[in-house]
Amino acid sequence: MSTHRRPALRTATRNSTIIETVFLVGLVVVIAVVFYTYQIISSSIEGKQHDAADISFPLNLPKPPSFSDQLTLRDLHDTPTRGGYGHFSRLAQDLASLPPNETLQKLKDEDPFGTRTFDSLLLEQETQLARVLTLQEIRQLFPCPDEQDRITLPDSRNEQRAREFRENKRGTFLFFQHLRKAGGTNFCSLAEKNLPPPAKPRYYCMPDMEWTDNQRAGYLHDWSNEEIIRRMESSGYRIAGNEWENFDVARHFELPAVFATSFRKPLDRALSQFRFECIEDRGCKIKDVHRWWDKRQDLYNVYTKTFADPPIGARQFFRGSYAKERRKFMETAIDTLSKFHLVICMEWLAYAGPLVTSVLGWDDLSALMTRVRPHIGQAKRDDGQDKNALGSASIKKASWVPEEYLDADQYKKMSEDLALDEILTDVARRMFLERLVCENWEQ
Ligand SMILES: *[C@@H]1O[C@H](CO)[C@@H](O)[C@H](O)[C@H]1NC(C)=O
Repeated sequence: MSTHRRPALRTATRNSTIIETVFLVGLVVVIAVVFYTYQIISSSIEGKQHDAADISFPLNLPKPPSFSDQLTLRDLHDTPTRGGYGHFSRLAQDLASLPPNETLQKLKDEDPFGTRTFDSLLLEQETQLARVLTLQEIRQLFPCPDEQDRITLPDSRNEQRAREFRENKRGTFLFFQHLRKAGGTNFCSLAEKNLPPPAKPRYYCMPDMEWTDNQRAGYLHDWSNEEIIRRMESSGYRIAGNEWENFDVARHFELPAVFATSFRKPLDRALSQFRFECIEDRGCKIKDVHRWWDKRQDLYNVYTKTFADPPIGARQFFRGSYAKERRKFMETAIDTLSKFHLVICMEWLAYAGPLVTSVLGWDDLSALMTRVRPHIGQAKRDDGQDKNALGSASIKKASWVPEEYLDADQYKKMSEDLALDEILTDVARRMFLERLVCENWEQ
């Protein structure tokens, strides 16, 4: 019996296999056709959106008189060839060669970049006046230095790249080197308000999320320039954030991009990352800052690493007796930073407006003002003004001041592990200030 059945069964199986195969092939074909049609339709829609976006800028004119009409980053041919860059670079390298406790001591006692004195004067003035200062008031606290004392001279920025970005030349984009918890989100909101929607990657400001099937976002060291250029151009995106990898000093400057970054005081940044990831439970379970910091040696001098882009395995050279290597890292990091068109400081975002507008041509600066300076909020609240949200933010913030949150030993340890970044942050802050106060914005 069974021998009679089997062929029948086999035939039935064969038949059903054939039917299934035909069905599956048919299904695949149908899906492919639908997908292909969708691709064509959506790309033609996107194309239209891009066209609309491209022409919307000229149509917005004439704009009210604004920074971007009158002021653009000066033509570099007009800028002096002399300057203080070499002097300050050597000074920073000297500081980098010292043992970290001495680096920190010198920065504190001598304030060689002038930014610490300025910062305490600024805090004092803002608290007293309960408002942000005017540019004239800033200049009284930090007057434009003589040419030979300017770290931003000679100017190493590629002005043509910035101009092409402002002119919306197809394929140009903003390369944002995102230092984690140092103001990148504010910067992305700023971009959101100033770029047409199709020019903004869907996942924050990081286009590679879409290039990797939602696997990785903000890893641009991994991509070749050719791939970045091709994908940015075909997507029509105009901003690319690199959050998790070093800036590639050997080749990223060859991209058709304008380069921007945002700094924050290193210890504040580190503590903010600990709070964000560990205390607020975003993928980290360690609640003890000592243990966390011991585990996260990748965060030691992370700014300097990001902009010096040393070879893999260079971590050991950041400490101990490797003074010559530290000099070299610092030299490269400052050289890289000096080529960034826009170096802003999270603490001073409220003052970054003219720099943002002149470099990027962006006029909606509201995102810069949303990060409030807490001490001003506090003063306002005491005045009886309706700023409760700020007040509570500033109170909540208070317990995260490193000097208060960390015990003395941990404060010292973390400070020393970030000593090179302290130098680089002072350098960045001086760049910001010089570029702000040395331009004649009011003309
Ligand atoms: C730095 O540390 C070394 C070794 O612990 C010590 O001898 C030196 O006095 C310290 N320097 C400063 C400025 O604290």
